[in-house]
Amino acid sequence: MSMNSRYLIVKLLIFITIEECSSALDGFNGTCDDSFSCGTISGIGYPFRRHQDPTHCGYPGFELNCDERNLPTIDIMNLKYQILGIDLTAQILRVVREDMVNSICPQELVNTTINHELFDYTSSYMNISFLFGCPFSSNIVGFGSILCSTDEISSPVLVLPGIQGPGDCKTSVVTPVPVGFLDPTRLGQVLREGFEVRWKVGRTCSGCMRSGGRCLYNNDTGLTMCGCPGPTFLADNCSTTNKTEVGSSPSSGMQLFSTSFLLVGVGSWRG
Ligand SMILES: *[C@@H]1O[C@H](CO)[C@@H](O)[C@H](O)[C@H]1NC(C)=O
Ligand SMILES: *[C@@H]1O[C@H](CO)[C@@H](O)[C@H](O)[C@H]1NC(C)=O
Ligand SMILES: *[C@@H]1O[C@H](CO)[C@@H](O)[C@H](O)[C@H]1NC(C)=O
Ligand SMILES: *[C@@H]1O[C@H](CO)[C@@H](O)[C@H](O)[C@H]1NC(C)=O
Ligand SMILES: *[C@@H]1O[C@H](CO)[C@@H](O)[C@H](O)[C@H]1NC(C)=O
Ligand SMILES: *[C@@H]1O[C@H](CO)[C@@H](O)[C@H](O)[C@H]1NC(C)=O
Repeated sequence: MSMNSRYLIVKLLIFITIEECSSALDGFNGTCDDSFSCGTISGIGYPFRRHQDPTHCGYPGFELNCDERNLPTIDIMNLKYQILGIDLTAQILRVVREDMVNSICPQELVNTTINHELFDYTSSYMNISFLFGCPFSSNIVGFGSILCSTDEISSPVLVLPGIQGPGDCKTSVVTPVPVGFLDPTRLGQVLREGFEVRWKVGRTCSGCMRSGGRCLYNNDTGLTMCGCPGPTFLADNCSTTNKTEVGSSPSSGMQLFSTSFLLVGVGSWRG
């Protein structure tokens, strides 16, 4: 083998090594807080991130809009929700449609639909339907009628149990209320309390956090992983004995946490 081809092989190896290193850490640019506040809620963590945080700090679909004096908001299926509570341990999120916080009537004429890839309803909810733009001759059925005025339609609105299509009316808006809802005089209160969903991603994050790590989102693989302090290793959590090191030089690491975590474990799991 000539000197030249050996040199070429060494160069190639170096190139491949660098490529692998950079791809393992690609997309992790900037630091994430272990726990953060957003609006009036504190102690928030993965899978949530604030809009201004680097993308790897949260799972896609969990971006929060923060406004110092108000509750955070989140967009689900193109509709804005106010966040009433976040339980990181139980993975439960309580939300209310922002357009129904101050109004018994939905202002946006769209159904409440959650993204089932990310969320499930927690306890038992039933649906009710608001029928807008009904003919004045309509029989008052179901929970009765309420007065609403939206930009589009201003007329009595029928409130019915269950999922109802518009029928003779112009449009119907379906939204969940707790099972057993019977008393129309409590409609406003029940709607303002919103509903709970359980998020389905990052299930092993509590183990990662307990072990001193911080969950991160790997945009290349679409997976959640546990970033651990110290040398980079593959792990589901930081206390596992099965640590596969993927990089040992701290100088090759990037600072991904606000605290002094240096490198990232790339052990990953689905969700
Ligand atoms: C990291 O982010 C900063 C600011 O957002 C940007 O200026 C820089 O180019 C980014 N670096 C890489 C490698 O993407
Ligand atoms: C309410 O409707 C949504 C979608 O329209 C559906 O996913 C959900 O299962 C319904 N809930 C009940 C209790 O039927
Ligand atoms: C809401 O869902 C009902 C039942 O699926 C449907 O008939 C109605 O058109 C939907 N409303 C809107 C505004 O999409
Ligand atoms: C960490 O992961 C190991 C398996 O890799 C598991 O046995 C252990 O229970 C986990 N620890 C925590 C705190 O989740
Ligand atoms: C994340 O991955 C998607 C494709 O899977 C790509 O379109 C997007 O630009 C990536 N985002 C970042 C911040 O790298
Ligand atoms: C250790 O982790 C590696 C990478 O995640 C995995 O391939 C291997 O099966 C694990 N070994 C044991 C004994 O759990």
